[in-house]
Amino acid sequence: MLSNLQPACFFVILVLCTHLNVVIEAEKCLKEEFHEVSVQSDFCKLEIAELECLLSSDEITVAYESNVFEAVTTWVKYDAENRKKYFLQLFKHVRLQLVSLDYISDKVRTETLVRESPECRDLVEDAFHVYVNPQRFKLQTVRKGEMKSDAKVGFLLCFGGCYLCMYNISEQIWTTWTLPSNFNLTFTTAVSLGTCTYFCGGMDNNQPTNRVLISNGSIFKPIAPMKIARINASAASVCGNILVFGGELSTLHTFSTGHKDASFHKITDDFEIYEPDKKQWKVGGNLLSGPRTEAATVVVKERVYLLGGYNSIQEQVYPSIPRRIKRACKLVDVYEHSTNSWTSARQMNHMRASFGAAALDNRIYCVGGYQDSNTQVATSEFFEVTAGQWTNFTWETPWSGPSSACKCGGKVYALGSADQSLYSLNSDEEDWDIHSIEQNLPNCQKVIPISWRSI
Ligand SMILES: *[C@@H]1O[C@H](CO)[C@@H](O)[C@H](O)[C@H]1NC(C)=O
Ligand SMILES: *[C@@H]1O[C@H](CO)[C@@H](O)[C@H](O)[C@H]1NC(C)=O
Ligand SMILES: *[C@@H]1O[C@H](CO)[C@@H](O)[C@H](O)[C@H]1NC(C)=O
Ligand SMILES: *[C@@H]1O[C@H](CO)[C@@H](O)[C@H](O)[C@H]1NC(C)=O
Ligand SMILES: *[C@@H]1O[C@H](CO)[C@@H](O)[C@H](O)[C@H]1NC(C)=O
Repeated sequence: MLSNLQPACFFVILVLCTHLNVVIEAEKCLKEEFHEVSVQSDFCKLEIAELECLLSSDEITVAYESNVFEAVTTWVKYDAENRKKYFLQLFKHVRLQLVSLDYISDKVRTETLVRESPECRDLVEDAFHVYVNPQRFKLQTVRKGEMKSDAKVGFLLCFGGCYLCMYNISEQIWTTWTLPSNFNLTFTTAVSLGTCTYFCGGMDNNQPTNRVLISNGSIFKPIAPMKIARINASAASVCGNILVFGGELSTLHTFSTGHKDASFHKITDDFEIYEPDKKQWKVGGNLLSGPRTEAATVVVKERVYLLGGYNSIQEQVYPSIPRRIKRACKLVDVYEHSTNSWTSARQMNHMRASFGAAALDNRIYCVGGYQDSNTQVATSEFFEVTAGQWTNFTWETPWSGPSSACKCGGKVYALGSADQSLYSLNSDEEDWDIHSIEQNLPNCQKVIPISWRSI
């Protein structure tokens, strides 16, 4: 890790470590969260050159770029009279493209040090424009630990029920463990942001739950619950926020025959947003095309694609017991978080729910799933984002039905939950490579990339 570092920065980190009196070894210090280091009082004793060198580095470990902004203001305010003149010089190193728009509006734009400098105000204005017109700006690189890009992430997590299984991709090692006994991840959706993973909703004691658990690999703890209990919702992380779309709620279902059943649920048509800075959920609004559950989400260029899912329920009385059949759709709706607006994209070729979707190189791959709650799908297709075209795979998946997929380290991985296996896409060979021959993945329904640093 240290070999990637410029010699000058290596020196600065050594100096910083000595300042902080924490450790003698620079490597240990680097592994510390930059944020943790930056809130210690000795941090303010750094020289301007030392600080600037750190701020310009991709190697400092931060979960949120907003931590870098806080470090800069703290350092300047420690001796405002003498340090104010350096603010612009340091502020230029804050990668505003990686900071959420809400944070920029609430914290950056209103900061006196920013308001007093026309150049700083211009940088803030640019940051807003990036969200509207990203192609006109050079993209800022993501620092270690930030989850904007997952190029450095080499771990996958497969989970379901009370079971989690982690896959170290480079060494092809599986590690399994059991959740703390009071937690259960049945029909839970999960997404990683920075070095944490958020597990949202699901079924608990046969009831839908609004519980949200956060984990960094060593602890699991509940955080603020969602506003609504959701089963099989779809989650995405974008601009430093967690978005949770649709899902099913608990309600007493009355069939047209008069038969009532409490185990039937209602598909929701709304979404909510978690802002880690504020530690709370807020109402997002309605979905563009009505109710949706077991849909898939992928993020491409800060836009969330909400794909497929069940959007209607029909009753069947067969042979005499009423039961309900969910129907999947082909819809693709695109949510732009910065403007809180929706647009539609071209529909998929096949209707799919509980399927896997992952974005790689400007393509969105969709695999498997159900077309109605009785019929599995064994085909796959991909969407060319720029051309707006869907293309069917010419070969079948080696598994059928419910799937989950994600991108990690430049590859698309898919979990076939019916045959409990993990595959990676090998488009050259028009095939899927299997990764779980010696590993059982009992009850696993989802696969996501994680960045838990202690592993
Ligand atoms: C996992 O892989 C990384 C390289 O990506 C390696 O450094 C690490 O030691 C491995 N960890 C385990 C637990 O196998
Ligand atoms: C987890 O919850 C599901 C649904 O409520 C239940 O069927 C399952 O038995 C639970 N698993 C454990 C290990 O408690
Ligand atoms: C792609 O698949 C869908 C559904 O499986 C089918 O209706 C459509 O004809 C296929 N398109 C092509 C070009 O083969
Ligand atoms: C949640 O999704 C799984 C498939 O991933 C499905 O088997 C299950 O029935 C769904 N749960 C509910 C309550 O609809
Ligand atoms: C996870 O969080 C706990 C509590 O905040 C902390 O003690 C622990 O060091 C963290 N682990 C990692 C790997 O960051």
